Amino acid sequence: MELNDKISAVITGGGSGLGEGTARMLASRGVKVAIFDVNEEAGQKVADELGGVFAKVDVSDAASVAEGFKVARAAHGQESIAVNCAGIAPAAKTVDREGAPHDASLFAKIIGVNLIGTFNVASQSAAGMCAQDPITEDGERGVIINTASVAAFDGQIGQIAYGSSKAAVAGMTLPMARDLSRNGVRIMTIAPGIFGTPMVKGMPQEVQDALGAMVPFPSRLGEPEEYAKLAVSICENAMLNGETIRLDGAIRMAPR
Ligand SMILES: NC(=O)c1ccc[n+]([C@@H]2O[C@H](COP(=O)([O-])OP(=O)(O)OC[C@H]3O[C@@H](n4cnc5c(N)ncnc54)[C@H](O)[C@@H]3O)[C@@H](O)[C@H]2O)c1
Repeated sequence: MELNDKISAVITGGGSGLGEGTARMLASRGVKVAIFDVNEEAGQKVADELGGVFAKVDVSDAASVAEGFKVARAAHGQESIAVNCAGIAPAAKTVDREGAPHDASLFAKIIGVNLIGTFNVASQSAAGMCAQDPITEDGERGVIINTASVAAFDGQIGQIAYGSSKAAVAGMTLPMARDLSRNGVRIMTIAPGIFGTPMVKGMPQEVQDALGAMVPFPSRLGEPEEYAKLAVSICENAMLNGETIRLDGAIRMAPR
């Protein structure tokens, strides 16, 4: 699809990091943006700066997501782009040092935000897209971009819940694309390596440098704009569908 001011987008986790970078780049192309985030202050700030709308949404809660779509669609009409960037990454091992098993409620929480949250937003966005008229000659009605992680494939020590949630996001990509193929809705997933978002930028400089040095080429952290550029390419290139793309400078994560 062509990006312009006739197109609107919903970006979850748009108050920070990769989601914020994507919201900024889409807005710079004229796209009307709606930010969904649990962090009201950060999400509202980005939305205000971009002339977009903000909805306080917890993606793990289907009813909260539905309310968010009401707000976004009342302002901008049916979105043709949904980008899932909301996510959390607490670390815990299968069995901790004291011999206790991984906290089941923490596991469920991470799955709830990263996997069920992605499903909630993607399925509700897809339902709206399916009901709108095609927007391209191909009959395209929309594109949904999910965010996995290289941890979907090479999860490290302490990433049992995170790695599982992201592997499932990669796993839902093809079946969802197949489900929606007759409706002209595409599904793609980006699996980032190590990106310089607030999470990583808050670490001491030597830790950031060490993380960057682990990347074969280019040996540095990825920038949110580089994620955003791929998201924009996915929107513009109708042949990209049903696949997970690693965006990682060829890094393969070590066990720790
Ligand atoms: N930064 C990296 O190196 C990296 C690598 C691989 C994958 N990712 C994935 O990319 C996505 C974005 O990560 P980031 O680095 O930009 O993180 P970030 O912490 O900067 O941004 C995440 C945003 O999601 C929001 N959020 C968290 N839980 C939410 C919920 N339940 N409902 C709505 N919003 C919620 C947060 O408030 C925050 O604004 C995440 O899914 C993350 O797992 C990041």
